[in-house]
Amino acid sequence: TGDVTYDIGFMNTAGTKSAITFIDGDEGILRYRGYPIEQLAQHSSFVEVTYLLIYGELPTADELEAFDNRLRRHTLLHEDLKGFFAGFPRDAHPMPVLSSAVSALSTFYQDSLNPFDKQQVELSTFRLLAKMPVIAAYAHKKSIGQPMLYPDNSLNSVENFLRMCFGLPTEHYELDPLVVKALDTLLILHADHEQNCSTSTVRLVGSSNANLFASVSAGINALFGPLHGGANEAVLNMLRKIKAEGIKPEDFMEKVKNKEDGVKLMGFGHRVYKNYDPRAKIVKGIADELLEKLGIDDELLDIAKRLEEKALADDYFVERKLYPNVDFYTGVIYKAMGFPEKMFTVLFALGRLPGWIAQWREMIEDPATKIGRPRQLYTGSPERNYPLD
Ligand code: CMC
Repeated sequence: TGDVTYDIGFMNTAGTKSAITFIDGDEGILRYRGYPIEQLAQHSSFVEVTYLLIYGELPTADELEAFDNRLRRHTLLHEDLKGFFAGFPRDAHPMPVLSSAVSALSTFYQDSLNPFDKQQVELSTFRLLAKMPVIAAYAHKKSIGQPMLYPDNSLNSVENFLRMCFGLPTEHYELDPLVVKALDTLLILHADHEQNCSTSTVRLVGSSNANLFASVSAGINALFGPLHGGANEAVLNMLRKIKAEGIKPEDFMEKVKNKEDGVKLMGFGHRVYKNYDPRAKIVKGIADELLEKLGIDDELLDIAKRLEEKALADDYFVERKLYPNVDFYTGVIYKAMGFPEKMFTVLFALGRLPGWIAQWREMIEDPATKIGRPRQLYTGSPERNYPLD
């Protein structure tokens, strides 16, 4: 096996070429299709970024309208898929509910199985983009025991999602434009991040020619882990614990630095960014602005800021180039919006969906694609004989 390179965690192995997202981790740069994340966050919309990631160019006004209209026509879930939610325990975490329901889309849309049928892939793309927010809202409603609302196609997908999460069939739900805008921007920030764990999972599963739904469902499961998307939930749990137990930030830092019980400063560190995560900068601004405008004074935000301040001045974090990542401040915002912790990673998944789809399509369309099949360095027993007596 002399020709095999040992690269645990794929620290240095490019498994693909890609024209979608550019990251310079040393400089803290992130661009989708060449556009800086800061400009997209300020001037674009989630639906426009979705189009950009998938088709490679910004849409014209007409293209955007046609795209959005088509999306709105695919929001309804098959009634039998709605029944699916009844089978899960009420307190189920919505992430496995989401991945299961997305996987189940292959059973309702059996025309989706051929990944090389371009028209079907296009249809699956719209179905997934339109239905996943509805599934996510249903997973939330299920967990709080409230009735599920049908989507209202006069609303865009972000508005619809908020209404389906927080509205009731018995009364009109008034959307708060500040919340809509903040969520839209957060979704843009999460929309793609080149070959991260969940995206690589989507590509790996897809490289066997599994369809889009199966591949994205696998990606959702990869995102669930606390070292990846699950970090946003873990950050809030960490902040709550620090508050509830009255731990001083400096004492908590000592625990982290001594690696006591494997405690980490969740929401810090990144495989690629060795500088401030450009998304975290924007998220921090949104946290300040939204909480102030909503008149919310959350001690958890203060604790987070104190932790950040301490970390950025501490040799342990400086030497290891550990900075806040996108997950550090998002939880405080989602909490202010009214989402329970369990929904935080679902929100990440909704944001990442266009990226997963764009990357899966790029992989399927690339004639150079081969089935993903890493090698190993065998460390087990040499050949031995099965005992006969
Ligand atoms: N708190 C304390 N120490 C840390 C942290 C942290 N959050 N992150 C890394 N380190 C230490 C780590 O212990 C190691 O120290 P040493 O050299 O003494 O062994 C050093 O920094 C290098 O870390 P690593 O674990 O080898 O780095 P990695 O590239 O394998 O892991 C990471 C990257 C994001 C998994 C890791 O930084 C981490 O676990 N962070 C906390 C979880 C988190 O916030 N994840 C979200 C990532 S960003 C968005 C997303 O992908 O979802």
